[in-house]
Amino acid sequence: MSQADHEAEAPATPHLDFAGTTPYEDYVQADVLTHLQHPRSDDPGEMVFLVTTQVMELWFTVIVHEWETASRALAADDVPRAVAALKRSVRELDALNASWRPLGQLTPAQFNSYRAALGEGSGFQSAMYRRMEFLLGEKSASMLVPHRGAPRVHAELEKALHEPSLYDEVLRLLARRGHPVPRPVLDRDVSRRYEPSPEVEAVWTALYAGDENDELARLGEALTDVAELVWRWRNDHLVATRRAMGSKAGTGGSAGVAWLERRARKNVFPELWTARSHV
Ligand code: HEM
Repeated sequence: MSQADHEAEAPATPHLDFAGTTPYEDYVQADVLTHLQHPRSDDPGEMVFLVTTQVMELWFTVIVHEWETASRALAADDVPRAVAALKRSVRELDALNASWRPLGQLTPAQFNSYRAALGEGSGFQSAMYRRMEFLLGEKSASMLVPHRGAPRVHAELEKALHEPSLYDEVLRLLARRGHPVPRPVLDRDVSRRYEPSPEVEAVWTALYAGDENDELARLGEALTDVAELVWRWRNDHLVATRRAMGSKAGTGGSAGVAWLERRARKNVFPELWTARSHV
């Protein structure tokens, strides 16, 4: 084979010349994203704490997007589209939870090296995490208070507070499909925390005792996968916190581990868990 033939067969190399910024940059904004890291101490370990937090914020954003897609699909009676979005979110929750790895073994001395630099900053003030909780039915108007000084964030959270949660949309769909979801549950004030109902538990019990391949039974399992992985995130956070700071008070002003323990004890989509005892 001549040199010319060889060159003719060589795979094409990527383009190098662009008039302005690269098309990759125009789409990904990597230059913006990789210059948003401003550590507040000289400790070399602070960078991974900051970036892990930012990475988790990005996953929260994707997951909120999936759950909002699922909610809209349920409202339009499109269960397959809702289940597809929920299943994507399950894989994203796995990736979110895997990002605990770099922080999972922090010692108190390591955390102390930059803890003071965080001031009163705490993940408790994460608005995107709060939107996740709101979509799960864990609504609370007081969680808007920390965001009064940030109009866009506050407006987005306020809108999310007054919209039906993902679980409200699930229950409305069950009712439209003929399941006996009680009127007060359907007409509830959606800006309040969802409280479990024995009648809703009975609906899930019936669905779980029936055909496993029923569309609604599969929706229930996808929601259970979501609930389990949210619970895992809370528990991984709790254990990482216990390792990094024992029972000291949190930077956000809470009792720390004792407060997080109480939060982690809450079941996501409660009837989906309690119904299992009756099948
Ligand atoms: C090992 C490092 C971490 C420690 C020691 C820690 C500690 C704490 C503590 C003590 C609280 C309770 C509120 C307070 O008083 O501050 C809290 C809440 C919270 N943290 Fe962390 N945290 C860590 C890492 C993270 C990361 C990487 C994220 C990701 C965004 C995060 C997100 C949250 C959220 C969302 C809450 C509120 C939970 C709720 O409302 O139930 N934390 N954290």
